[in-house]
Amino acid sequence: MAKSVTGTCGILTSGGDAPGLNAAIRAVARTAIDVYGMKIVGFEHGYRGLIEGNCRPLSPSEFSGILTRGGTILGTSREKPFKDKNWLSENGEASAVDRIKENYRKFGLDCLVVLGGNGTNTTGALLANEGLNVIGLPKTIDNDIVETDITFGFHTALTVATDAIDRLHSTASSHNRVMVIELMGHKAGWLSLYSGVAGGGDVVLIPEIPYSIKSIASHLETRAREGKTFSIVVVAEGALSKEESLMERKAFKRSREQMSSSIGYRVASEIQDATGHESRVTVLGYLQRGGTPVAFDRVLASQFGTVAANMMAQGDFGKMVALQDNKLVGVPLERIANRIKTVPLDHYMLETARDVGTCLGD
Ligand code: F6P
Repeated sequence: MAKSVTGTCGILTSGGDAPGLNAAIRAVARTAIDVYGMKIVGFEHGYRGLIEGNCRPLSPSEFSGILTRGGTILGTSREKPFKDKNWLSENGEASAVDRIKENYRKFGLDCLVVLGGNGTNTTGALLANEGLNVIGLPKTIDNDIVETDITFGFHTALTVATDAIDRLHSTASSHNRVMVIELMGHKAGWLSLYSGVAGGGDVVLIPEIPYSIKSIASHLETRAREGKTFSIVVVAEGALSKEESLMERKAFKRSREQMSSSIGYRVASEIQDATGHESRVTVLGYLQRGGTPVAFDRVLASQFGTVAANMMAQGDFGKMVALQDNKLVGVPLERIANRIKTVPLDHYMLETARDVGTCLGD
């Protein structure tokens, strides 16, 4: 066995599930066990399992056949240990963080590997500040984690969304309709931008570019004059209008709470009112997070997992594994915490979209 400063490592998956999680778990565990002889303790349902001490030793038999499986064999949750201040413990009140530190010691962990998005890696950075050895892996279909070119889960969601857009083309053209498809991505529009280009969307609306219904209507009317009797409009769930972008945060939140349906439906009705074109809506929802990972995500998750195990063995803690300019690196967790990677307004993909005639709502 190769030398390792880590004898026992804990692993958990947290936040929204994404294809590739099991591939990453498998890579961390297979490398840790087979190369370094480590023990692996799997915590159930994200940080909640770590707070409650709900875990099980992971044996090699658990990893056969999970490379291609969607979801996570450990389960997940959106628990935020530094936000849920108090958890009752046997001897009175104790914070979730105290419980985590107790369990980290109780289960003899030398390191904790956390697979998740912004929130998960932010909690990882805070736990590292509390003295735990933590390594993060960047998982999300949104691709909105800073310091990494890409996250695992994104390519699978992109493939699912692009297939859906392809299918909408045939029904849109048969009915001469405007088809609106709403995709995931609350704060960042990467998934809508990439699948809009991949699927030939005529309009792509992302949170980074507040839209004007006038601009969209004019684009659709130009298409109609050119004889294009149908259009595909890709809308990120976090897209907003120019008017909304000028609102106070509280006013915006209130107005969204009063909205009877999600943004895709509102955009469709605004388009129908502005142009008279019949519009229909598809909300792709959780299909973007389900099912088997595509090959790219299987490979990326395996790369991230093996690098994480090697970093554990070398005692290279307090970092998130990342892909930067085609290199697998470790980035200090504090550089990830509380940040979101949104689409920069000078990003080349926006130029690509415009150059192929996509209206971005501005
Ligand atoms: O974080 C990924 C994500 O899929 C977002 O794109 C989406 O808005 C959110 O999770 C949905 O969260 P939940 O699974 O808690 O409904």
